[in-house]
Amino acid sequence: MKKICIVGASGKLGRYMVQHALDRGYQVNAVCRAKSVHKLRAFEREIQIFPGHTDDTEVIKNAVRCCEAVLVVLAPWGVKHYSTNTAKAVLDHADDKARLIFSCGWHISLDGKDRFSRRFKVMVKLLSVVLRTLRIADIDDQVRACNTIFASTRRWTVVRGSDLEEGESQGLPVRSDHVGDKVLESNLTRRTDFALFMISAIENDALVGKAPAIVGCKTESAQKYDTHAFR
Ligand SMILES: NC(=O)c1ccc[n+]([C@@H]2O[C@H](COP(=O)([O-])OP(=O)(O)OC[C@H]3O[C@@H](n4cnc5c(N)ncnc54)[C@H](OP(=O)(O)O)[C@@H]3O)[C@@H](O)[C@H]2O)c1
Repeated sequence: MKKICIVGASGKLGRYMVQHALDRGYQVNAVCRAKSVHKLRAFEREIQIFPGHTDDTEVIKNAVRCCEAVLVVLAPWGVKHYSTNTAKAVLDHADDKARLIFSCGWHISLDGKDRFSRRFKVMVKLLSVVLRTLRIADIDDQVRACNTIFASTRRWTVVRGSDLEEGESQGLPVRSDHVGDKVLESNLTRRTDFALFMISAIENDALVGKAPAIVGCKTESAQKYDTHAFR
C-alpha cells in the first residue's frame, strides 16, 4: 500500500483529503497541531497522527519518512513565516522522488501571466494589510512559500483554489494555467473537490512543475468553456 503524508490534516480541506486518500487505498500519515488531534478522531484507527506544528522540522522529518507523496495545506497563519517554514521543512525532508503537492489561493502566480481583476487585487491587498496588522496571518508569507517551491527542483505541484463552498462532491474540478481564463470565471469550487484534485494530482505527472488554478466542474464557466483539453 502506498504511504502518503498530509500536512495540516485536521483542517476542513485536510480532513477531506484524508477521506479521499483512504478511499483510494493510501496509507496516511497526518500532521496536525496537538490541540487539533481530536478533529481527526473519526480516522484515528486508520491513520497515523504526528502531532505538532507543520513548520516543526523534527515533526515533518518523522512524518514524511518513506512517503511517496506529501500533501500540504499551505496556511499563512501568524507573522512568523509559518507557510514558508512549512514548505521548506517538506522540501528539505521528503524522500527524493516524492510527489509534493501544496494548496493555496488564486492570488499566487507562477509565471506572472495571470490576469487578476482590479476588484480581486484590491481585495487581496486590503485583506493582506488587515490580517498582518492584527497579526492574524501574513498573506505574503504564502507568496514567499510558493516562490520557494517554484524555485525547487523537487516534483512539486501547487494547486490554486478558487473561492470555496461546502456541499456534496460534484467531481474533479476543471483546471487552467492562468487566472483570468474564461473557464475559471465562476470562481467557486466545492471544498471536497479541491481535496479530490489534490489527491488525484499524486498520480498525475502532467502536473509536475505546474500551478493549476481550479474551478468546480459543474459551475457555469466550466460547463461553458471546458473543452476537456485541460483535464
Ligand atoms: N478558504 C478559502 O476560501 C480558500 C480559497 C482558496 C484557497 N484556499 C486554500 O485552501 C487551504 C485551506 O483552506 P481552508 O479554508 O479549507 O482551511 P482549513 O482546511 O481549515 O485549513 C486551515 C489549516 O490551518 C491550520 N490552522 C488554523 N489556525 C491556525 C493557527 N493559528 N496556527 C497554525 N495553523 C492553523 C488548521 O489546523 P487546525 O486544525 O490545527 O486548526 C488547518 O490545517 C489553504 O491552502 C488556502 O490557501 C482557501
